[in-house]
Amino acid sequence: MSEKLKVGILGGTGMVGQRFVSLLENHPWFEVAAIAASPRSAGKTYEEAVGGRWKMSTPMPEAVKHIIVKNVNEVEEVASCVDFVFSAVDMTKDEIKAIEEAYAKAEIPVVSNNSAHRWTPDVPMVIPEINPEHLEVIPFQKKRLGTLRGFIAVKPNCSIQSYTPALHALKQFGPKVVVATTYQAISGAGKTFKDWPEMVDNVIPFIGGEEEKSEQEPLRIWGKVEDGVIKKADAPLITTQCIRVPVSDGHTAAVFVSFEKKPTKEEILKCWAEYKGEPQELGLPSAPKQFIKYFEEDNRPQAKLDRDYEKGMGVCLGRLREDTVYDYKFVGLSHNTLRGAAGGAVLVAELLTAKGYIKAK
Ligand SMILES: NC(=O)c1ccc[n+]([C@@H]2O[C@H](COP(=O)([O-])OP(=O)(O)OC[C@H]3O[C@@H](n4cnc5c(N)ncnc54)[C@H](OP(=O)(O)O)[C@@H]3O)[C@@H](O)[C@H]2O)c1
Repeated sequence: MSEKLKVGILGGTGMVGQRFVSLLENHPWFEVAAIAASPRSAGKTYEEAVGGRWKMSTPMPEAVKHIIVKNVNEVEEVASCVDFVFSAVDMTKDEIKAIEEAYAKAEIPVVSNNSAHRWTPDVPMVIPEINPEHLEVIPFQKKRLGTLRGFIAVKPNCSIQSYTPALHALKQFGPKVVVATTYQAISGAGKTFKDWPEMVDNVIPFIGGEEEKSEQEPLRIWGKVEDGVIKKADAPLITTQCIRVPVSDGHTAAVFVSFEKKPTKEEILKCWAEYKGEPQELGLPSAPKQFIKYFEEDNRPQAKLDRDYEKGMGVCLGRLREDTVYDYKFVGLSHNTLRGAAGGAVLVAELLTAKGYIKAK
């Protein structure tokens, strides 16, 4: 790519927005050209607007410190200086739906971290290694919106990446029943231990809306494009429990699964080791070289040791064994704010760029 694409970050002052800012520092294809947030931050420099809220472990990139933050609601103003935007605003679902659609209608592709459009029938929800073909609904969406280059694409919820890739790699054996318990990090709620001290030495058995997302979103990922919309798959049957645990980053999942055709343990390990998707084939900049890593050690994967595998973009698995009730059980781990949030969205944008859906204006 001769010139970098100009990117805007909606909600750039928040936790996910900061992650976008960090990931885009020195990105080979994209550069941050605009940051937008609430009217509270608009008009301030990025450094002033974020103030003491910088939550990344690396320093704020110099290149963004003096960018003047814009108001998310001033769509034309933001749209005029970018080729596409990432969306990480925290507003009501209806407001997010409306604002993302307003950007798309202003001919700006929107790659969203938010859940608002995950079930809009012609909006692709993509894990690039699993369902890149869902991008085929974009022309139908553009037709509905009346746009030439503007559209919305989303990534799924952070919880599902710790088990959906593992099950997808085994699709040929027909997973039919899946029971997953997720142990979710506090950064998934936008928190650190400093601002959520109640989570130290604690476990909370409820995360609003998370079980529904964890059970339903994999079915949309495995759905088919039919008549210009995504029709969700009707199998496997998935049931989940989602639990908040005192871990800073990294969602773990304990998974039980039964198959139509039970594979051997060796077949499962081979499928996981060999699984590749389009990001690996296209050599996308944020793609993990090895998407799925299996640990032989009984005490792995561990959130603290393994969440940063492949810069937080790989999925770590372990403890595969036969089960007494289901066919097999195993444990999965993925980084919730990298693969599960901003990193996953950056990979979606890279795929959209490689396939010509996002171009310079
Ligand atoms: N944290 C995670 O790991 C995670 C994972 C998956 C999905 N999400 C979702 O991603 C979104 C962002 O999460 P977050 O944790 O980054 O939230 P956050 O830290 O609270 O940041 C929210 C961002 O939205 C902006 N904003 C808030 N109210 C606004 C308004 N009325 N108009 C325009 N902008 C407004 C904020 O701007 P100001 O700074 O000016 O207030 C800030 O930039 C949420 O929808 C969340 O559910 C988060």
